[in-house]
Amino acid sequence: MNKINAAITGIQGYVPPDLLTNKDLEKIIDTNDEWIISRTGIKERHILKGEGLATSDMAAEAVKGLLKKTNTDPLDVDLLICATVTADMVFPSTANIVSDKTGLKNAWSFDLNAACSGFLFALSTAAQFIETGKYKKVIVIGADKMSSIVDYTDRTTCIIFGDGSGAAMLEPTTDGTGIIDSIMHADGSGRDFLHQKAGGSLKPASHETVDAREHYVFQEGKSVFKFAVSKMADVSAKIMEQNNLKSEDISWLVPHQANLRIIDATARRMGLDKSKVMINIEKYGNTTNGTIPLCLWEWEDQLKKGDNLVLSAFGGGFTWGAIYLKWAYDPS
Ligand code: UT7
Repeated sequence: MNKINAAITGIQGYVPPDLLTNKDLEKIIDTNDEWIISRTGIKERHILKGEGLATSDMAAEAVKGLLKKTNTDPLDVDLLICATVTADMVFPSTANIVSDKTGLKNAWSFDLNAACSGFLFALSTAAQFIETGKYKKVIVIGADKMSSIVDYTDRTTCIIFGDGSGAAMLEPTTDGTGIIDSIMHADGSGRDFLHQKAGGSLKPASHETVDAREHYVFQEGKSVFKFAVSKMADVSAKIMEQNNLKSEDISWLVPHQANLRIIDATARRMGLDKSKVMINIEKYGNTTNGTIPLCLWEWEDQLKKGDNLVLSAFGGGFTWGAIYLKWAYDPS
């Protein structure tokens, strides 16, 4: 029997309707549209507004759309993994809440936190369950309400983040498509450069932590940038080499959208023309776990069965990785 691969058999994204443009940011911090575009490539981001709305609401929208378009009975889903750094609550997991909101009564579910590499870590984890032959339908979500942890007085950080979510259905296939290879890395010494200081067991919430604005993303942008450029390019080149892929064999690079300059460096290292790179950072900014599924969702109509895709990410931790997959279906 041919080897069982885990294939993405459907993809759905969701972004909330409210926009935060560079012009809007000009009104609240000392910045300008031209600086943001030239340093990051971002023009606007979507922001989840409304009382009582959280990451699980955006994730549930993506999952509902995914179930509908793949014609899946929610009771047939075996497992749901939600990659997020902005869980609704410290516990229970956002995945548990999404399952409840979308009627996945037979699925077990858990969150996975690998910062901006979370969707790739979750996809790689989910693939193992499918490849054993035991699981038939697994949903992987990447979702973040970054606006809930972004400090809108910190001009060096707040300009890059936005809110959004995406969900992928994974199913077994033996036709040679699906996830072929993955390389994942983590180096916790990178925590100094990108983290949220308070709210965890190290520094529980107190008046002092709130006053010191320690419940927001802290980022030393320049240092993170240096690591991101080299690690994302290295791991993307490595997965090509490991699978004997030349630039002309690759149909699409699907990169994490943190900064257009990081994406360009990765594409250059892979020898890829920009026409083969999925880029939507100008519309959404860095949605953390949402970036890669949002790209796949937006480009779904252009993807053909057998297309070679390289998915690549770098994030807090540090974490980074790449996945090589063969797309499993033609546009409907
Ligand atoms: O997704 C997970 C991982 N995260 C990333 O991959 C993000 C990686 N880092 C970056 O993308 C970039 O470092 C940023 C976009 C965050 C910042 O860009 P940068 O080119 O590294 O800027 P910088 O922090 O080195 O600042 C350069 C200059 C400084 O002025 P001086 O000291 O040269 O006079 C800043 O004060 O730009 C100034 N600056 C700004 N000016 C206008 C910083 N932020 C802004 C701003 N508007 N928003």
